Amino acid sequence: MSAVGPVPSVAANGAEIPLLGLGTWDLRGRTCARMVEAALRLGYRHIDTAEMYDNEREVGEGLHASGVKRGEVFVTTKVWPSHFAPRELERAARDSLSRLHLREVDLLLLHWPNPQIPLEDTLGALCKVKRDGLARYIGISNFTVKLVEQAVRLSSEPLACNQVECHPFLDQSKVIAACRKHGMAVVAYSPIARGSARKDKTLARIGAGHGKTAAQVCLRFAVQQGIVVIPRTSKEQRLAENAAVFDFKLSQAEMAEIAKLAQRDGRVVDWSYSGRTQWD
Ligand SMILES: NC(=O)c1ccc[n+]([C@@H]2O[C@H](COP(=O)([O-])OP(=O)(O)OC[C@H]3O[C@@H](n4cnc5c(N)ncnc54)[C@H](OP(=O)(O)O)[C@@H]3O)[C@@H](O)[C@H]2O)c1
Repeated sequence: MSAVGPVPSVAANGAEIPLLGLGTWDLRGRTCARMVEAALRLGYRHIDTAEMYDNEREVGEGLHASGVKRGEVFVTTKVWPSHFAPRELERAARDSLSRLHLREVDLLLLHWPNPQIPLEDTLGALCKVKRDGLARYIGISNFTVKLVEQAVRLSSEPLACNQVECHPFLDQSKVIAACRKHGMAVVAYSPIARGSARKDKTLARIGAGHGKTAAQVCLRFAVQQGIVVIPRTSKEQRLAENAAVFDFKLSQAEMAEIAKLAQRDGRVVDWSYSGRTQWD
């Protein structure tokens, strides 16, 4: 397998987030540890996990087995909304660190909004966790435009990113604009639409012109806009495929054609956790 070249980063209110990371949702046990180790050996420098994925222990094993120095890897984890009460949030962060075998994570996110607990209280606790040195940077995930505005207003520490579902089949232009306005990075989850990008004829045709696969075109479309991608795979050969997106450029016409694939209801992830719609 060829090694990944240096991966560019995006600046995000003080953080430098590598534009490519490995998503780990649904990777469990030995597969998870093996994929994290293989990705890092290949040159990935960003790993995305969450307390809810029930794999932080295996992510930690993969990190340590890779031999890559801690300071060279950007590790993100997330607090589940049932732990958003201030004391619980701090305990959840400490539990994540203990499972990961790390002293601090690079980025700690609120996984989904939780309308049951005042956002101000949760953000206060998240900021304290950062000040206490458990997380270098903090951010949010699945926040709508309205909630991004509220979070920015209520947070005493800068927010580095909003992690949201983002791929060519979903119009996320409004939330992307809101993040940019506040200097926050957009981290795209499900960046290949849970694998369905592979079957898209437009992406495949454009890819053929560059000697690339439809999945690579899909990921390139995001990174070319400065959007971080965290594709997940359980297959080692796909790690290299998903990383080989920094050695070609899509033309303006190709970018415009891909942008036309977007639909308002193009989600692949169940949005009902948030109890809100993306359009409020
Ligand atoms: N913040 C949140 O609420 C949230 C929600 C969802 C996801 N996430 C994060 O985002 C990460 C990525 O999202 P995701 O796992 O939902 O979806 P994804 O990365 O868009 O797609 C993963 C699927 O695509 C397949 N795949 C991977 N590379 C491929 C390629 N080159 N060609 C064809 N198929 C390919 C994988 O199958 P194989 O395993 O067979 O390769 C897997 O079935 C997650 O793992 C998680 O870390 C966050």
